[in-house]
Amino acid sequence: MRYLLSTLLIFYVLIGQAQTNQIKLQQPGGVVINKNIYGHFAEHLGHCIYDGFYVGEGNAKIPNTNGVRNDIIEALKKLKVPNLRWPGGCFADTYHWKDGIGPKADRPKMINVWWGGVTEDNSFGTHDFLNMCEAIGAQPYLAGNVGSGTVKELSDWVTYVNFDGVSPMSNLRKQNGREKPWNVSMWGVGNEAWGCGGNMQVEYYANIYRQYATFMTDWSNTSKLFRIASGANEADYHWSEVLMRDIPHHMLDGIALHHYSSVEWSNKGDATNFTEAQYFATLKSALWMDELVTKHSAIMDKYDPKKKVALVVDEWGGWYNVEQGTNPGFLYQQNSMRDAMIAGVTLNIFNNHSERVRVANLAQTVNVLQAVILTKDEKIIVTPTYHVMEMYNVHQDATLIPLEITTADYEFEGKKLPAISSSASRDKNGLTHISLVNIDSKKSQDLVIDLQGKFSTVTGRILTSGKLQDHNTFENSELIKPVAFKGASLKANQLTVKIPPFSVVVLEVK
Ligand code: AHR
Repeated sequence: MRYLLSTLLIFYVLIGQAQTNQIKLQQPGGVVINKNIYGHFAEHLGHCIYDGFYVGEGNAKIPNTNGVRNDIIEALKKLKVPNLRWPGGCFADTYHWKDGIGPKADRPKMINVWWGGVTEDNSFGTHDFLNMCEAIGAQPYLAGNVGSGTVKELSDWVTYVNFDGVSPMSNLRKQNGREKPWNVSMWGVGNEAWGCGGNMQVEYYANIYRQYATFMTDWSNTSKLFRIASGANEADYHWSEVLMRDIPHHMLDGIALHHYSSVEWSNKGDATNFTEAQYFATLKSALWMDELVTKHSAIMDKYDPKKKVALVVDEWGGWYNVEQGTNPGFLYQQNSMRDAMIAGVTLNIFNNHSERVRVANLAQTVNVLQAVILTKDEKIIVTPTYHVMEMYNVHQDATLIPLEITTADYEFEGKKLPAISSSASRDKNGLTHISLVNIDSKKSQDLVIDLQGKFSTVTGRILTSGKLQDHNTFENSELIKPVAFKGASLKANQLTVKIPPFSVVVLEVK
C-alpha cells in the first residue's frame, strides 16, 4: 500500500510538472524582430579597443587588417553582428573626434578620465572604426559628444562621415584617404546624460537634444539618420516621459535605456566564484528587464501609439567585480554559464517586445563586462555569451511568433523566479525557431509546446555545462560550446522537451 501511495505521489508530481510547463505558440502578427536587437558595444575602455580589437598596424605577431585582429573580425562575422556602438559609453562625452583622424603620429594624446586615467593616443579613430565595421559587416552606431562637446563638433562629424560633395569636412575626409562617405545612420546624442554624460536634468537635456538634433543634417539618400536620445537609467520612468513629451517626434528615432544585471551594485561579487544566492540575485536582476521594458514602452505608447520611436537598450549585461590583479578601471571579467543565462533570458525579453525594442547593445564586445570575446596575446577565446548570441541569431529579422507560457518556479530559499523563458520566430524560409532557457540551478524541466500547426521534424542545439560557474579559459577554450540537442520529440503539432538545469536550447521545427 505504501509503495502504491508513493508511486501515485510521484505520478502526480510528474503530471503536475508536465502541466506546469507549457508553451502555446500564437499566430504571428506581422512584427519583425529587428536584427539590431543583437547589437554590440565597443568603448575605449580597458582592453576593448586597445589590445582587444586593435593591436596596431605594425603588429607582426597577431594577424591583422589595418591593425584590427583578423580572428576577432572572423568571430564577429560568424555572430552576424548587426550593429556596433562606439566610442562609448562615458568615454563618448569626453571624445573629440577630430583628435582621431589624420596621420597617427600627429594625433594628440589625452587622458581617458573615466577608465583608469590611462593615456589615449587616438590611434584608433573614426576611419579605423568605420572601416572595421565594414570588415565585420556591422552597421556603425556612433555616440556623439554632448557632455563636453559642441553642436558644431557633432554636426561636423555627421558631415565628415556622410556628406558626398564639396565641403570643408568632406574634403578633409577625402584628404585622409576616404573618397566616398560611409553613410552612417545610427547616432546617439550623448550618453547617460543623467550621469557621466553631464549630470543633467531631463528637462534640460530634452532641450539640448532638440538643439543638437537640429544641426545633425541628413545628407544621405540611402540611409536616413536614426537619432537616439540618451535614455533612462533603469526605472527612471520620468526620464522617458519627458523625452517623449518634449522632443518633437520628427526629430527623434529612438530613446535609450540602460540596465546592468548585478548581485548588488555595492557588492558585485566574483564573475566565476559565486554562490547560488548570488546567481539567483543576478538572474532576478536580469529578469527585471521585462518590467523595465514593459513600463518604458507603456509611457512611449501614450505619446507614440504608432510606435514610430524605438526603445534602444544600448547597454545591458552582467556586471561583476574585476578579475583579481587587473586594473579596476578596466572592467575585465570572466564569463560563465550564469552569463549564458543572462543572455538567453534577456534576448527572449527583447524578442517578445520587439514591436518597441528595435535596437540593443550588449556591453561590451571584447575584454570588458559581459564580453563575447576575451584576448590574451595571440590567443582569443569565445565565451558562453558568444555562443548564446550565435545560437539566437536565427531570430534576426524573422517574424515574431507570440507565445503564452506557463512555467514552474525556480525556488531558492523561499524566493521564486520563473524557471523557463522562451521566444519564437519564423524566418524567411518558413523555418520556426524556438529559444528556451531553464535558469533552475538543479532541476530539469519537462515542457510541452503546442505548435498550432503540423510540422514533421525537429532539430536543435543546447548550451550547458557541469557547473554554473564553468567558463572557457585559454587553457580549455571549448569546455562550453553548443552541441546537438536530443531532448525534443515531435508528434503532429506538439513538441515534448526536457531541458536540463541552467541550459539554453534553440529548436528548429519544419
Ligand atoms: O559599459 C560601461 C559603462 O557603463 C559605460 O561607459 C556607461 O555608459 C555605463 O555606465
